[in-house]
Amino acid sequence: MNEQERVQGHRTPSLSFLFRNAEGLEKLRDEIVRTARVTGNLASVGCSQGQEAYSIAALLCSQGLDKWKIEGYDINPENIERANEAIYHVRSKPIGSKRHKEAWEYVSRFADEPYGYFELENSAKDEFEEELGAHTAKPSNILRKMCDFACHDIVGGILPIAYDAISCNNVLRYYLEQPEQLSQFMRNLTLSLSPNGLLLIDSPFVLNLVNDEDECTEPIITTCLSENFRTIYESDFNNLYQRNY
Ligand SMILES: C[S@@+](CC[C@H](N)C(=O)[O-])C[C@H]1O[C@@H](n2cnc3c(N)ncnc32)[C@H](O)[C@@H]1O
Repeated sequence: MNEQERVQGHRTPSLSFLFRNAEGLEKLRDEIVRTARVTGNLASVGCSQGQEAYSIAALLCSQGLDKWKIEGYDINPENIERANEAIYHVRSKPIGSKRHKEAWEYVSRFADEPYGYFELENSAKDEFEEELGAHTAKPSNILRKMCDFACHDIVGGILPIAYDAISCNNVLRYYLEQPEQLSQFMRNLTLSLSPNGLLLIDSPFVLNLVNDEDECTEPIITTCLSENFRTIYESDFNNLYQRNY
């Protein structure tokens, strides 16, 4: 993939949905709670149309952590426009999968009292939407105030500021076959972390450790020192990929 293709996002589909990889996001939230980080800033890198950022905002908010600021970054400017519009349709491929239903259960739960983090519009167009009982979800003002979005290419450079936590899911897979870009990706990601920052990245499904996305449970979450990115790169990633860069 050359730089132009990468920047235009030709090879990086924008598939995402609210509470995709919810277990990973919860794990990150739990680590934030466990380490008593009452406030901080978090980047969702490769945020697509903002679904991950709003999901994290809801999970933090439900623990009283609404002082956190979340910035979603994506290489594709159209995604950033959609993230700012923040209207999410329940329909997403593959329609009807277990993971989509589970994800939508989070949306429903957080739409209800006492949370009210999403406004749902009931206008189901087909049986699947009927079963889920809603058709669009819009994040409430409280979540919108926590989230901002900007265009950024993580392979091209580090984030504009350092973050206390970074979540980066389902992006790395597009760089597995380009060692130089993968190295830049990991370098820029980890250099964008504050000292002792938390990094949540991908899942065993993405890392080809399981074959079925529905089976994926354990995401990788790690703390690393921003000046010491090689620690995480070598120990976690080289082993998992079983490659030598
Ligand atoms: C499959 S989506 C994943 C969205 C979300 N993180 C999730 O897990 O649902 C991958 C996203 O990464 C973005 N992306 C790809 N390469 C990127 C890069 N170098 N810098 C920033 N974003 C990138 C794409 O535009 C796309 O929106």
